[in-house]
Amino acid sequence: MTFKKNILCIGAGYVGGPTMAMIAHKCPHYKVTVVDINPTRIAGWNSGDLPIYEPGLDKIVKSTRGKNLFFSTEIERGIKEAEIIFVSVNTPVKTFGAGAGMAADLQYWEKTARQILKCSESSKIIVEKSTFPVRTAFAMERILSLTENDIHFDVLSNPEFLAEGTAIKNLEYPDRVLIGSRETPSCVKARDELIEIYSNWVPKDRIITSNIWSSELSKLVANAFLAQRISSINSFTAFCEKSEADITEVARAIGMDSRLGNKFLNPSFGWGGSCFKKDILNLVYLCRHYGLDEVANYWEAVVSINEYQKERFVLNILSAMFNTLAGKKICLFGFAFKANTGDTRESPAIFIAKKLIEERAELVITDPRALNNARIDLNGIDGKISYIEDPYKASDGCDAIAVVTEWEIYKSLDFEKIYQSMFKPAFIFDGRNILNHKRLFDIGFNVFPIGKPSLTHF
Ligand code: UDX
Ligand code: UDX
Repeated sequence: MTFKKNILCIGAGYVGGPTMAMIAHKCPHYKVTVVDINPTRIAGWNSGDLPIYEPGLDKIVKSTRGKNLFFSTEIERGIKEAEIIFVSVNTPVKTFGAGAGMAADLQYWEKTARQILKCSESSKIIVEKSTFPVRTAFAMERILSLTENDIHFDVLSNPEFLAEGTAIKNLEYPDRVLIGSRETPSCVKARDELIEIYSNWVPKDRIITSNIWSSELSKLVANAFLAQRISSINSFTAFCEKSEADITEVARAIGMDSRLGNKFLNPSFGWGGSCFKKDILNLVYLCRHYGLDEVANYWEAVVSINEYQKERFVLNILSAMFNTLAGKKICLFGFAFKANTGDTRESPAIFIAKKLIEERAELVITDPRALNNARIDLNGIDGKISYIEDPYKASDGCDAIAVVTEWEIYKSLDFEKIYQSMFKPAFIFDGRNILNHKRLFDIGFNVFPIGKPSLTHF
């Protein structure tokens, strides 16, 4: 079969894999190849057991793989053959040198840009899919213009807004697709080609364009705003626990104001995920770089409140359990940073687990999808930790349960049975407010929700 265009994606991660699977699914006339430097990841994408868990992803990959969707480690060949290249390599926080702990580590994308330059034998459209600091496209253009022949590269910014656990839905019915570009005739033509791809399934009025810097900045600002909403509601959980107010009632009341809306108001013991902290700290770093210290401090507080919230959760457990956790067995219900994913990057569970171990508690961790990642995250930690998939077996003989991830299955467990098997007095710390607290209290548990009065038998 001859294809209209060859699309390549460099980086077969949480963003690159699902995004390309959706393009292949919706555009059978395009050939889509995803490459990665990690052969294990590529082998996973070519197997029956995909390297990431995402509801609905399996089905789409199975229906397109080998037809117009291909996974490979042949990066150079992929670059040569492609007319459009999406760059979706990771951009972690720098761990060394200037800006360590805040700035983005751009070594991977620069290596990728240079590799594109080296291997290209024809002109191409380069699409920034990864979240980059503002003006990265400019740097990429500079590198790609080092060519000595008449090959030309047009660089577009097309940030991905999918959230894990709902990636397929977000990709299929996006709120918007944002494409940033320069206004040169060649860039506008490139932008139109990208619009044509998305138009295969996204309504025209949802595909918006902007200048390239606005596009890059919009992604960082979107994540900063989302995280800010959760930090804002979380900041009032502490207040509610001290007063007679109930955070769920407050969230409902404010969420019905159409100016505020009801999304992203679920209180938690802390937000996580690979993007929020990294992107806000990037913004903070950029603000300081431009001498905008007040702006930097304002956004940095969104991260600080989150650190405080995680710390507070552990201190609440400690004080509720008579100020000592040594030798007590605590079961973590969930380890993923949110439900419907096996991803544990920046999961608040990692912080909680480490702190509880420092208090000499014994941990039992259960999660339907994230136990392998949990083992890697806690590898080498000096303490007693076991990993058990069945929540009934995991909580057997424990002193306390801490709900860490809002998995649907936890809501319908037989808590009567769980209570019987636990050490008494039995505690539940619901870090997500997903359980029926009154019912748990009636069974005999001492219940500590987030942002509501606790229900205790003593
Ligand atoms: C990543 C970033 O975290 C995010 O900021 C950005 O918006 C999109 O890219 P994600 O897909 O979740 O998101 O990252 P990850 O799952 O780590 O995937 C990146 C992939 O790129 C990895 O599989 C890695 O092996 C690959 N990679 C990295 C390359 O193929 N080449 C490189 O030079 C570096
Ligand atoms: C986020 C953005 O939503 C997405 O648009 C962007 O492309 C990548 O970053 P993601 O990190 O996958 O997506 O998940 P998200 O649903 O935003 O949740 C992030 C964290 O916030 C999770 O730990 C989640 O549990 C927490 N959260 C979310 C809350 O604590 N309360 C809420 O009301 C919503």
